[in-house]
Amino acid sequence: MNNLTYTGDIQTEVRNAEREYTQTTQEITFSEEQHAIWADLFAGIHQPHLLEHVCQEFIAGLARLELNPQRIPTVAHLNAKIFPRTGWNIERTAVRYTKAPAWYQKFADRIFLITDYLRTRDQMEFTPEPDMFHDIFGHLPYLTQNFYAALEDKFAPAFLKATEAEQEVIKRLAWYSTEFGLVIEDKRIKIFGAGIISGRKEFANTIMELYRLDRDGVLDYQDDIFPQINDYFYTHQEEIDRISDGINDLHQKGEMSSQAKGWNVIRDLYGRLGITKEGYLGGDVIIAPFDINYISRIPKTIYALNPIFFVFESFDQLDQMLDSYLKPIANRRKTVQSRQRPK
Ligand SMILES: [Fe+2]
Repeated sequence: MNNLTYTGDIQTEVRNAEREYTQTTQEITFSEEQHAIWADLFAGIHQPHLLEHVCQEFIAGLARLELNPQRIPTVAHLNAKIFPRTGWNIERTAVRYTKAPAWYQKFADRIFLITDYLRTRDQMEFTPEPDMFHDIFGHLPYLTQNFYAALEDKFAPAFLKATEAEQEVIKRLAWYSTEFGLVIEDKRIKIFGAGIISGRKEFANTIMELYRLDRDGVLDYQDDIFPQINDYFYTHQEEIDRISDGINDLHQKGEMSSQAKGWNVIRDLYGRLGITKEGYLGGDVIIAPFDINYISRIPKTIYALNPIFFVFESFDQLDQMLDSYLKPIANRRKTVQSRQRPK
């Protein structure tokens, strides 16, 4: 097994063609309980002490989206706020988890799918499945803005021409940028990824680590943050390589993605590897510089909190790094034929 074997994907795709929405059936009626869950999720994140850790682009986009905190929005409302600004369309799907080939086929037409599935009360803190709160609240504020539309525009042309191995890398790049990326703003690390923003447990875990890095004297927030992270990461390269190999082993043995075991798995791993949890490596999540070679070695972690997050210096830097990997693939004249393995 090489380190691109494990995809980390949700294995079940609930697809019901008969129930799939058409252009004329996009709007559906939600139960009062669903609206109440939406309202609680919205209120849970929409707190000043949490939003101060989120990048300003999210805050600006959320205002543009004009969501009602109490009610799940209609597709018409979302499209009215998004399409005139960026040319992207929102489409509802009955598929709970759309797999990458179908997802990027829609991306190629600038369609962002939102699932009709909403988490249940017992999943308010953490859900492995991206639900409609994740899709709408986490992603769509950004899709009112051209910088984000331009980022999303990069993925499909490359994915649709990529080899199977490259497709796995592209999925990881999306995972560690638009889903779980961090960005430097105002000399601080801010949350960008929709997966963190829409998941209270992952959100809290990330903020705790940002405070811990300060409290333990690892980062000096008075100084430029990115060079500090860069230095720490490459100074600890050998240990981090062993951690990433260990994470891959856990994934491949099916022992990583365990909501029940969660962090104990990673703590045990550090122990087995003889790596002391202190200083830069002292938290429950490693904050690393966005590095495509490294990201290509780390699978998505679906059923537990992610053990590593990547931070970029600016959206321009992210843009350039994604281009460096995606453009040469997108510019190929012919699609590389590869068997589409179920993901
Ligand atoms: Fe997402």
